Amino acid sequence: MYKSGNPYRPIETEVLDVITETPTIKTLRLKPREEITFKTGQFIELTVPGVGEAPFTPSSRPSVTDIMEVTVMRVGKVTEKIHQLEKGDIIGLRGPFGKGYPLDEFKNKEVLVVGGGCGYAPLRSLMYSIFDISGEFKSIFFRGGCKRPDEMLYRKELESWHDRKDLNIRLTVDVGDKTWKGNVGLVTTILDDVKMDYSSGVAIVCGPPIMMKFATMKLIEMGFKEDSIYLSMEKNMSCGIGKCGHCRIGIYYACKDGPAFQYSKIKGTPEIWA
Ligand SMILES: Cc1cc2nc3c(=O)[nH]c(=O)nc-3n(C[C@H](O)[C@H](O)[C@H](O)COP(=O)(O)OP(=O)(O)OC[C@H]3O[C@@H](n4cnc5c(N)ncnc54)[C@H](O)[C@@H]3O)c2cc1C
Ligand code: FES
Repeated sequence: MYKSGNPYRPIETEVLDVITETPTIKTLRLKPREEITFKTGQFIELTVPGVGEAPFTPSSRPSVTDIMEVTVMRVGKVTEKIHQLEKGDIIGLRGPFGKGYPLDEFKNKEVLVVGGGCGYAPLRSLMYSIFDISGEFKSIFFRGGCKRPDEMLYRKELESWHDRKDLNIRLTVDVGDKTWKGNVGLVTTILDDVKMDYSSGVAIVCGPPIMMKFATMKLIEMGFKEDSIYLSMEKNMSCGIGKCGHCRIGIYYACKDGPAFQYSKIKGTPEIWA
């Protein structure tokens, strides 16, 4: 929960460690000066003094409240500076903002999580939350895809999930290499062997817009209901609290009403796949 009372005031946060995940992705282990609790799916804003701020979804376990991990892909001005941070540096953190995934509504259901590219970051936090109460779901499926094996975020950790008894997992890459023993093809090619009652199941999709578009079309073709498909809308944001209008999707604000939305609520809004 946001404790400072002023949602615009960043909390001083120490960089405890920086982990290089892939050539363009790093994970920061952060220690905010104030304890921050978040629900999986909520996001925070990181402020780099003198440069600016940008929204990120924590990739760590929500039940750990003193240290937060954030996984950042380098794409522009703020993320470039974040990649230059070192152990001991101080940055700002605001949040959490938005609504988390409605995990209580998923209980007693079959759950399918589909991730692509850097979309694994928020999904890692979601999977930790699901694992913590895995007995409460009828079954849990994870399907993940990325371009190449060396770009697969958290590869070792994901591969270790194959040993979990409470999870059915399959991973794919667009183009394989000598180290890759799994499927080769788009993530939609590994959805067919998800054996569940699609009409009562829940699907959570997070990744690049084009991947979410084709995954959603496939899920509907399989029989998932439009209000049982949750999509993560990582729109450009500024205030994070429903004031500036930067993140508008139709009648919704992604920062306040999302960032995850049921497909039934946002379908027909052209910008969702942009
Ligand atoms: C709710 C939310 C959660 C997010 N979580 C993560 C996360 O966990 N990890 C992560 O790496 N990134 C995440 N992002 C995206 C991240 O916020 C942007 O990559 C970042 O704001 C880019 O800032 P920049 O100054 O480095 O790039 P800029 O210089 O602003 O932009 C560089 C390029 O990136 C594009 N870009 C900017 N913002 C976004 C965006 N929101 N989505 C897609 N493209 C964008 C621009 O169009 C431009 O082409 C999230 C975004 C949102 C809204
Ligand atoms: S970021 Fe300002 S309204 Fe959503």
